[in-house]
Amino acid sequence: MQVLVIGATRGTGRLLVDRLLADGHQVRAGTRAPGQDQALVAAGADPVSADLEGPDEPLRAALHGAQAVVFCAGSGSGTGPDATLRVDLHGAVRSIDLAVELGVPRYVMLSSMAADDPRRGPTAITHYLAAKHAADRILAVSGLAWTSVRPGGLTHEHGSDHVEVGVPRLERRGTIPREDVAAVLAGCLAQPATIGLAFEVLSGPVPVGAALAGLSAGHGGDRR
Ligand SMILES: NC(=O)c1ccc[n+]([C@@H]2O[C@H](COP(=O)([O-])OP(=O)(O)OC[C@H]3O[C@@H](n4cnc5c(N)ncnc54)[C@H](OP(=O)(O)O)[C@@H]3O)[C@@H](O)[C@H]2O)c1
Repeated sequence: MQVLVIGATRGTGRLLVDRLLADGHQVRAGTRAPGQDQALVAAGADPVSADLEGPDEPLRAALHGAQAVVFCAGSGSGTGPDATLRVDLHGAVRSIDLAVELGVPRYVMLSSMAADDPRRGPTAITHYLAAKHAADRILAVSGLAWTSVRPGGLTHEHGSDHVEVGVPRLERRGTIPREDVAAVLAGCLAQPATIGLAFEVLSGPVPVGAALAGLSAGHGGDRR
């Protein structure tokens, strides 16, 4: 499958690029600066310009002909509410709108735990959770085949490929390695039954494949 990863240069998105390549996908790796291309080419990906705050045309070209988009971009915790709105909300909505316009059928959103109800999260990041909440809601009514993956705190530890998932939420907080989130995002592309689901994910005891298959078996709850 031809997959565009938005936010492919660092963090979860970069790990996802490797995961998707290992799974046999053709990967368009969204970057913002030419200097970021070399390592992605060496990995086997096709770097494309995909700046959510940049002009329309490169972003449109990045999406054109793709069969799936995975949104992994984020303004980061060091930026203020303005950047959060520009990237995590407005940037996400731009990519959703373009996916609809260009007929890209599949969209997987890397959202956040508590995005279903921003009041559940720490007060200091309410604006961020509100941006994630709004983007998820817009995605859910886009008509795309969507999935929203909502992890807890991301770590740089090695992944175990074992998680706990909950639809629409887990009744605990916690963390999860970025590597495991990348495995879940890739798993969603391989598991069509995750379409139309928003779910929270933390480190846990269940192999990723089985956890996603369990979701598809209908573990109930609000599918938004
Ligand atoms: N940190 C957490 O605990 C946590 C918890 C739940 C969910 N999340 C979400 O998980 C996602 C990934 O987080 P992460 O910490 O793994 O990633 P990260 O290391 O913060 O990397 C962010 C990526 O987004 C890209 N980016 C930033 N602004 C962009 C823009 N305007 N247009 C396109 N790309 C842009 C960056 O590119 P450059 O290299 O060019 O800057 C980079 O590739 C984010 O959506 C975040 O909100 C994070």
